[in-house]
Amino acid sequence: THLSRACNIVTVRNTIEIEAKRTVSARVARMLASMDEGSIAANMSGGSTIADTPEWKALQEHVAEIDKTHLRDLMADERRCMSLIKESEGLYVDFSRQRVTAETVKLLVNLAEAAGLREKIDGMFKGERINSTEDRAVLHVATRARRDQTIMVEGKNVVPEVWEVLDKIKSFSDKVRNGEWLGATGKPLTKVVAIGIGGSFLGPLFVHTALKTEPSASKQAAGRQLNFLANVDPIDVSRALKGLDPEETLVVVVSKTFTTAETMLNARTVRQWLKSHLGPDCVSKHMVAVSTNLKLVKEFGINPENAFGFWDWVGGRYSVCSAVGILPLSLQYGFDVMQQFLMGANNMDDHFKNMPFENNLPVLMGLTSLWNISFMGYPALAILPYCQALSKLAPHYQQVSMESNGKGVDMNGKALPFETGEVDFGEPGTNGQHSFYQLVHQGRVVPCDFIGVVRSQQSVYLKGEIVSNHDELMCNFFAQADALAYGKTPEQLRSENVPDYLIPHKAFTGNRPSLSIMVPSCTAYTVGQLLAMYEHRVAVQGFVWGINSFDQWGVELGKVLASKIRTMMNQSRTKSRVILPSDGINYSTARMINKYLEGKTQ
Ligand code: F6P
Repeated sequence: THLSRACNIVTVRNTIEIEAKRTVSARVARMLASMDEGSIAANMSGGSTIADTPEWKALQEHVAEIDKTHLRDLMADERRCMSLIKESEGLYVDFSRQRVTAETVKLLVNLAEAAGLREKIDGMFKGERINSTEDRAVLHVATRARRDQTIMVEGKNVVPEVWEVLDKIKSFSDKVRNGEWLGATGKPLTKVVAIGIGGSFLGPLFVHTALKTEPSASKQAAGRQLNFLANVDPIDVSRALKGLDPEETLVVVVSKTFTTAETMLNARTVRQWLKSHLGPDCVSKHMVAVSTNLKLVKEFGINPENAFGFWDWVGGRYSVCSAVGILPLSLQYGFDVMQQFLMGANNMDDHFKNMPFENNLPVLMGLTSLWNISFMGYPALAILPYCQALSKLAPHYQQVSMESNGKGVDMNGKALPFETGEVDFGEPGTNGQHSFYQLVHQGRVVPCDFIGVVRSQQSVYLKGEIVSNHDELMCNFFAQADALAYGKTPEQLRSENVPDYLIPHKAFTGNRPSLSIMVPSCTAYTVGQLLAMYEHRVAVQGFVWGINSFDQWGVELGKVLASKIRTMMNQSRTKSRVILPSDGINYSTARMINKYLEGKTQ
């Protein structure tokens, strides 16, 4: 065990060093390089964490109290329910089906205070370098600041810079949309392909899916098309370009670093597609970029004037409100629609910053989920929007949450004595009901977020039907939360004359927690609110656990190994010989790659 632990430490350190040198400021790289195995190992143990506080212990003891009462009994206490239903910022958020009481909320708020949550939130809004391993501020809130707001980073108000880019997006997207900006052959550019992956894709896809069917946004998108190309899989390339005429296509390359292997290969492929149809000089009219790395944008051949910048204080998965999302989405829906979206997010930022914890929606969401994960032992969360337009919320939130909080050490590098992060997944209702709800009702306990919408984007009401399609959908939204909370007892089944042998199969334990959120309608504004609320929920969890939610070293090792294999594959091809373990790879992987290469040549 000690040997493998030591090997792991060395491998991790080497990988971190390589990546740090490549991507992080020289100061951090030097700091990491100077740490020897001993100091890394020492850092991985000892010291105190939030789990050593009396507030954490009080919550651990409180679990026994909660375990004594079934949710159906908690739900019978109307005063309790009343105090757990929050109506704020036009949103209706019902925490009453969480396995909590007023006492639990009080203890969680005590824990938040012990963790310095208020100071940490303030530090984020003040532009402090809270992403310590990358030595960066975390200021996605600045990307949706109102023009008259002031957000300082190291003595400089960054809001004017944010609005400089937003003004540039407005001017450019207006020109493309009104035909002032034409393609190389003089045709209007009505089709957009946005190339990007991870945070440079999932958030924009979520918002695009939410707005596609929204009446006023879709009116603005008439005659236009927005496709995303994320995966390096050639199938995704062909899917994204299918049916597109290069003469009418504008390509937006979205990459914070402009080094992501998949995005850059896809960008080169699509550049080739454009050039082969339109000639070598078409790039200036048909390709633009969104990046923090304007030097590499220029080297790629995109005119820096056609580049839309953002800043290292915007994390990839938190970048939807920067040019990453706002440029492609403004091309599709117009800048005014996107400004509504930014205002919604800004509204939630103000709420998060100013509202006392007891009524603060993201804080309560973060704390109750932390309660579920760290104290009740439920490590997953299902995101279940009863609104097809929100179908991409779960994949987006998956990255925001899992890339942020899937960590094993605290801010100081100390190994945590508890697990962080949650396993997020989801599908829109009612589709999910016909898929994985069986497990959620009778198998494992999976806390659920139900998200319903009062007024649908679309109306379908068949004459002669009792309810409209939307009412039918919402009946399920209301029913599922109670089915999980109440369950069905053997006594109830017996009173329904269910035969004895079927009772164990038909019984539902209930006592399964959920959160119900209802938004007035799915508009650009409310989508902005939801996005920010879920982003801040993740920050609250991370702040209380004491981890750095804003780095993502865990994605680097795989990238480094893929690059090593890429080199081996090239060598094997050029030298026409098989890959051997002596090339620096294990037997199994060498054999599998050889099998792959062999299959390709046949
Ligand atoms: O691999 C993960 C990641 O680094 C994400 O954090 C990021 O959103 C994504 O890759 C894409 O990065 P980029 O925008 O630099 O291409």
